[in-house]
Amino acid sequence: MSRSKRKWDHIQHALATGQSSNTGLADVAFVHQSLPDAFLDQADLGTSIGELSLSSPIFINAMTGGGGERTVQINRDLALAAKSTGLAMAVGSQMSALKDPNEAESYRVVRRENPRGIIFGNLGSEATIDQAKAAVDMIEADALQIHLNAVQELTMPEGDRDFRGALKRIENIVAHSEVPVVVKEVGFGINKEAASMLASVGVTAIDIGGFGGTNFSRIENARRDRLLTFFDEWGIPTAVSIAEAASLKAGAAVIASGGIRTSNDIAKAIALGAGAAGMAGFFLKVLMKEGLEALIEEINSIHSELKMIMTALGAKSIAELQQSPIIISGRTHHWLNERGIDTKSYSRRTIKK
Ligand code: FNR
Repeated sequence: MSRSKRKWDHIQHALATGQSSNTGLADVAFVHQSLPDAFLDQADLGTSIGELSLSSPIFINAMTGGGGERTVQINRDLALAAKSTGLAMAVGSQMSALKDPNEAESYRVVRRENPRGIIFGNLGSEATIDQAKAAVDMIEADALQIHLNAVQELTMPEGDRDFRGALKRIENIVAHSEVPVVVKEVGFGINKEAASMLASVGVTAIDIGGFGGTNFSRIENARRDRLLTFFDEWGIPTAVSIAEAASLKAGAAVIASGGIRTSNDIAKAIALGAGAAGMAGFFLKVLMKEGLEALIEEINSIHSELKMIMTALGAKSIAELQQSPIIISGRTHHWLNERGIDTKSYSRRTIKK
C-alpha cells in the first residue's frame, strides 16, 4: 500500500474508531475554592514550552500531510484555525515528503497560511540528523516533534519491527537541532523511566500522548486480517502518564495529549503537571464533520471556558493552575500509588500567590 493511501486511511479510520474515554481524567477532581480572589478578564492563558512562548496552552497535535490534495486541504484548514485562534500547530510525519518531494506542498501550506504562527515539524525516531534538519527547513518549523509509536508500528501490517537505537538517534538530533525537540507518543503514554531517559538526552519537552483518545491499535487493526486486539486496550492512560512524567521534576517540560476533548480535560491535565495540551482526533472530527468555522468557534469556546475554570479556582495563570489542589481517585490513584508517585502532594497543596 502506498504511503499516501495510508495517510488517508488513517484519517478515515481515526474518524470511524473515534476516541475511547478511559483517559483517567475522570478520576481527577478539583477542590472547589469559595474565595477565589480572581476575576475573569485577568485569567492569562499564556504558557511556554522551553524557550517557545505560547499565547494558549492548547495546540493542534500532529495529524497529516503526505496524502496528496486531500491532506493539503486539511492542513490548510487546520493552519487557518490555528492562525485565527493563536494556537501552535504540529504537522503530521514529514517522512513522506522527504521520500517524495511532490508531497512537500501538503506541509508547506501550513507555513504559507500562517507565516508568523508557531509550527512544529514531525518525524519518527528512525530519522537521521539530516532528515530532521530537512523537516525543519521544509516548513521553517519553530520546534521538531519526534514520535515514538512502537505499538502502532507492530500493529501496522507494513510497520517497522526494529526499535533499537531510538534514544541515541534522538540524542544526536537534539545535539544538532537549531530548534527545540519535543518527543511524543501517539496514544500509548510515556512512563517515568522513559521520560527520564528522554530528559537526560536534553529534549525540551515530553508530550506523553497517553491512552484514552485516538487509538492507533484500533486504527491499524482495521487494516489487518488477523487482529491484534490485545493492543486495543494497551497503554498508560493520559492522566497517569502526565503524573508519571511530572513526578520527575526533570529539565523537560511535560505536555499532555491523548483523548483531550474539553476545557475541563485541559484544566485537569495542567493541574496534573502539564504546561500545554495537544488535541488531534477531536479537532479533526469537528473540522471534517462541521467545517472550519465550527472548529474556530469550538477553540474560542474552550478558551473562554478555561478562563472560567481558572477564575473559579483562583488561578490567574497557567503556572497557578498547575498548583491548584486536586483529588486523584479510582484506577489513576491505584496506579500512581503502585508506581510510588505521591498523590497527596496534589491534594494538600495550595496556589502560592
Ligand atoms: C495522528 N497522530 C500522529 N502523530 C504523529 O506524531 N505523527 C503523525 O503523523 C500522526 N498522524 C496522525 C493521524 C491522525 C489521523 C490522527 C488522528 C493522529 C497522533 C496524534 O498526534 C496524537 O498523538 C494522538 O492522536 C492522540 O491524541 P488525540 O487524537 O487523542 O487528541
